Amino acid sequence: MRKNIVAGNWKMNTTLQEGIALAEEVNEALAGRKANCDVVICVPFTHLASIAAKINQEKLGLGAENCADHEKGAYTGEVSAPMVASTGATYVILGHSERRQYYGETAETLRAKVALALENKLTPIFCIGEVLEERENNKHFDVVKAQIEEGLFNLSAEDFGKIILAYEPVWAIGTGKTATADQAEEIHAFIRKTVAEKYGQEVADNTSILYGGSCKPSNAKELFAKPDVDGGLIGGAALKCADFMGIVDAF
Ligand code: 13P
Repeated sequence: MRKNIVAGNWKMNTTLQEGIALAEEVNEALAGRKANCDVVICVPFTHLASIAAKINQEKLGLGAENCADHEKGAYTGEVSAPMVASTGATYVILGHSERRQYYGETAETLRAKVALALENKLTPIFCIGEVLEERENNKHFDVVKAQIEEGLFNLSAEDFGKIILAYEPVWAIGTGKTATADQAEEIHAFIRKTVAEKYGQEVADNTSILYGGSCKPSNAKELFAKPDVDGGLIGGAALKCADFMGIVDAF
C-alpha cells in the first residue's frame, strides 16, 4: 500500500551554513521520534552533498528541487540528475509551479527530466496544480489531468509506480490560503481515478499523492485525515524545525 510522506521544499532559502544547521535540527528531532510517515527534505543544490554527510537517510530522505533535462554537456548553470544522485540525494522535485511559471518548464522538458531522474534512481516528486483563474472557471480537473497525462503518461506502469505526485493549487502556495480538506480530497480522488484509468487500480492505490500549499501544523491533521491525501509538500513551514515536526506529527 502507498506510503504517507511529509516532504519539505526549502525553495531558494537558507545559506549553506543555515541549511546544514536546519537539516541537523530536523535529523535530531527525527532521531528521537517514531514518525508515522516518511520524511524528506528537498534543498538547494549547493547544500546537497554537505547535508547528505550529516543526516541519517534511513530516517530523513534528501532530495533536490529540480534537475536538468539533459544528462551532461554544454548547458551552463544546469545541474544534472547524475550530479544530484552523486551527492547522495535520492529524491527530486520536478515540475513545481514556480518552475513552470518563472522558468518556462513545459511537459516536454518535464518528460525528459522524469526519464533522467528515474535512470539515475532518483524518486521524482512530480507537481501539478491549477492557478486561481482556472479554479474559478471550474477548469482545475482538466488542467490537472492534462498535466499528468502530458508529463507522465508516457511512462510504463512500472516506472509510474516510482513517482510521487504532489497536488499544489497555485493559489494556495505561500498565500496562507489553504485548500479546504474537502477541496483537497475531491481533487486527490480525481487524480487517483485518472491514474487508475491509465494504469489500473492497483498502481493508483499504490501512488502517494501529497498536498501542498500553506500546509502547517494547524491544518495538516485535517488534510491528512482524508483518504486520498497521503501527506504534504511543505514550503514555508519546512523552514522551521518545530513547524515541520508539527506537520510530521499530524500522522
Ligand atoms: P507553502 O507551504 O509555502 O505554501 O509552499 C508550498 C509549496 O510550494 C511546496 O512545494
